[in-house]
Amino acid sequence: MRRARQIAMAALALLLGAFAVVALAQPPVTRSSAAVEVRPEIAALESQVSRLDEGPELFEQSCSSCHGFEGEGVEGQAPSLKHAGEAAADFYLRTGRMPLGQVGDEPLRGEPRFGDKEIEALDAYVGSLGEGPAIPKVEPSQGSVSEGMRLFTESCAGCHGIGGKGGVAIGGYAPPLGEATPAEVGEAIRVGPYLMPRFSEGTISPAEVNSIARYVELTQNPEDAGGFGIGHIGPVPEGLVAWFAAVAAVLLVARLIGERLGGSRADDEAEEPR
Ligand code: HEC
Ligand code: HEC
Repeated sequence: MRRARQIAMAALALLLGAFAVVALAQPPVTRSSAAVEVRPEIAALESQVSRLDEGPELFEQSCSSCHGFEGEGVEGQAPSLKHAGEAAADFYLRTGRMPLGQVGDEPLRGEPRFGDKEIEALDAYVGSLGEGPAIPKVEPSQGSVSEGMRLFTESCAGCHGIGGKGGVAIGGYAPPLGEATPAEVGEAIRVGPYLMPRFSEGTISPAEVNSIARYVELTQNPEDAGGFGIGHIGPVPEGLVAWFAAVAAVLLVARLIGERLGGSRADDEAEEPR
């Protein structure tokens, strides 16, 4: 019956609307595919790791094949960690850059391979190998956004871009800073990973690091006003999703109206289920 069909279509429209709302309310799903790929590997490593909570043992298991049994480095394989310091260990482990999969791989940000306790144990062990930068205490709330922006523009934007979206560095690529925690910002500043220069406390003071970290946080959540939770990827994709939902709704309404007006047309009648 026509009436039943109209009710069904209206119900469908409602469902579609509800679906759009639910879809918009979903948490961001970026990077999930990468996380799924490495999860079994992480689980295996984690159970292995939970049995060993000592830094030296962990190091021997996961790092010494490249860095040597005492972290002395292996020619043509991996550098000495004698003066890497806790800051470098913490940075490379928390950003998932270490342990490197294979000699020759570029260390890239990824899922961390260890839990907090293991990372702390490894940090302490690497720190004990010789003098190196300590893990900086970073408190963005103590910093000033305007100072942070000025310092970031002067010292960081040349590579990472003024909005922290990443850019070109001489000889490579400077990553976007969207996922860097305040601690990682401080560590990167003191450690100078890969092509990035290292900044001493004389060049960038701890207070200035707080300001830079605060500015980086701002670039990660610009205003955080407006937009649904589809990953804060900006107004264009969010607008697109809204468009798709709106277009679908308009099509359905058009169809309902069409059914009412065109009800007497013969070809329409022919389609009617009896
Ligand atoms: C497959 C080999 C390999 C393994 C395994 C490995 N590393 Fe590395 N590591 C490297 C290479 C190569 C570099 C140099 C990367 C670069 O140039 O940025 C490096 C760099 C580092 C650095 C930075 C050194 C510095 O002076 O800034 C730290 C810290 C580090 N590794 C810690 C570790 C820890 C801790 C582990 C074990 C959990 C580990 N690595 C496992 C190959 C490896
Ligand atoms: C000469 C170019 C250059 C400059 C200047 C520079 N960086 Fe970097 N930065 C890099 C590169 C290249 C990497 C990637 C290192 C790696 O993969 O090991 C990086 C990595 C980082 C990371 C780690 C990002 C992540 O997601 O793991 C942070 C945080 C960071 N930089 C912050 C800063 C800050 C803050 C400044 C300014 C004080 C700065 N950088 C200045 C080139 C630069």
